[in-house]
Amino acid sequence: MKILMVCLGNICRSPLAEGILRNKIKKAGLCWTVDSAGTGNYHIGEPPHRLSQKVSKINGVDISFQQARQFNKLDMLHFDKIYVMDSDNYEEVKVMSQDLWDENKVDLLLNELYPCENREVPDPWYGTEEGYHRVYKLLDEACNNIIINYSEEQKRNKTA
Ligand code: 4NP
Repeated sequence: MKILMVCLGNICRSPLAEGILRNKIKKAGLCWTVDSAGTGNYHIGEPPHRLSQKVSKINGVDISFQQARQFNKLDMLHFDKIYVMDSDNYEEVKVMSQDLWDENKVDLLLNELYPCENREVPDPWYGTEEGYHRVYKLLDEACNNIIINYSEEQKRNKTA
């Protein structure tokens, strides 16, 4: 499984989602890879937002080495699953993917936690540290479900 997390700036939400899922993949002993990207180009090359770094560190997840990059249409080919944080990200990924768009690969991340509800991960960019803690909790719960749902699916595929 190759998973890509996408938000707007790739400095607040998706770097957190990447770090949280990478940590869980390692703990579960899975051979999956995870990356993140932004639909915007404002923060290319920057480390995650200092509050994303702080909140993840408090929770035992190091994201300080990650660097923002922009989504590229070839990501649609390279990754098996692309999770977006909100519906704007979904529409942007669709437009940017052009002829490579594959609806089956892309979903709102919170549909892993609240199936079919199309809920969005709120953008903590304009808020306080509290917002980053709330976002961390949501992402952590959604990533738990990714591990549960897809490792079960892989086991079923192996025995089929
Ligand atoms: P993110 O948050 O999409 O979760 O990384 C944002 C980061 C930067 C900006 C907007 C949202 N910005 O406008 O620069």
